[in-house]
Amino acid sequence: MHPQLNLQTSGLTARYGPVEALHATDLHVNAGELVAVLGPNGAGKSTLLRRIVGLVQGAGTVHFGGSLLPDTDPRGCTMRGVVLVPEGRGIFGPMTVFENLDLGAYLERDKAQVRARMEQVFDLFPRLKDRQKQLGGSLSGGEQQMLAIGRGLMAAPKVLLLDEPSLGLAPRLAEEIFVTLGELNKSGLSVLLVEQKAPLALQLATRAYLLAVGRVVSEVTPDQIRSPHDLARYYLATN
Ligand SMILES: Nc1ncnc2c1ncn2[C@@H]1O[C@H](COP(=O)(O)OP(=O)(O)OP(=O)(O)O)[C@@H](O)[C@H]1O
Ligand SMILES: [Mg+2]
Repeated sequence: MHPQLNLQTSGLTARYGPVEALHATDLHVNAGELVAVLGPNGAGKSTLLRRIVGLVQGAGTVHFGGSLLPDTDPRGCTMRGVVLVPEGRGIFGPMTVFENLDLGAYLERDKAQVRARMEQVFDLFPRLKDRQKQLGGSLSGGEQQMLAIGRGLMAAPKVLLLDEPSLGLAPRLAEEIFVTLGELNKSGLSVLLVEQKAPLALQLATRAYLLAVGRVVSEVTPDQIRSPHDLARYYLATN
């Protein structure tokens, strides 16, 4: 464990024009930890991840590895190893799988490094290797999600922020992707995982923050959530 790689938000808020969509949020991810953020539609989960990497403006701070992350500077965040895999995947449809992956490493000038990272991604997702010349837009939903994660990994993240990787996927594919996420986490990658499918996320997470209407309402461990009723109880108790 490397405590210096801890990600920590303090009083983090986010606003869209005059509307504050995320209110003073304090959370952290220890080095090597996989932490989930659960919550209903519109709770502010994507806003939280987008705010951490500076895609949305607001107040508060994010520290990573003991230093302050630059505010509203997504490129600077990527350079420091804080990498977002966005909701909806953000694949470039008219570009090939290879080109999409290559884009993920846009900050790396060393071509040998880029090739080595791509080999790692192909080891993790052999389907992407088979389809590297295929256009991103022609992939299935599950393959596109693999590509989105692969592209994130090409940036050599120290902490990966994942926004609803299971969205729109058949349960078996979602499971497959979560198995790979578990492997990545076991290999030392820290993960902040936004999910609506709580049981899936809680298989991997050591802790989860429950978000509702732009606020963290509770922090739980997987053993506290054995059924959807438990989850509802935590929401009701705090609302
Ligand atoms: N670009 C935007 N401009 C204005 N308001 C926005 C914008 N994006 C999100 N919001 C608002 O911010 C709030 C939080 O949205 P957000 O997308 O973060 O929720 P979410 O928890 O990710 O929801 P979902 O589960 O549907 O993905 C919502 O009320 C939403 O309408
Ligand atoms: Mg969202």
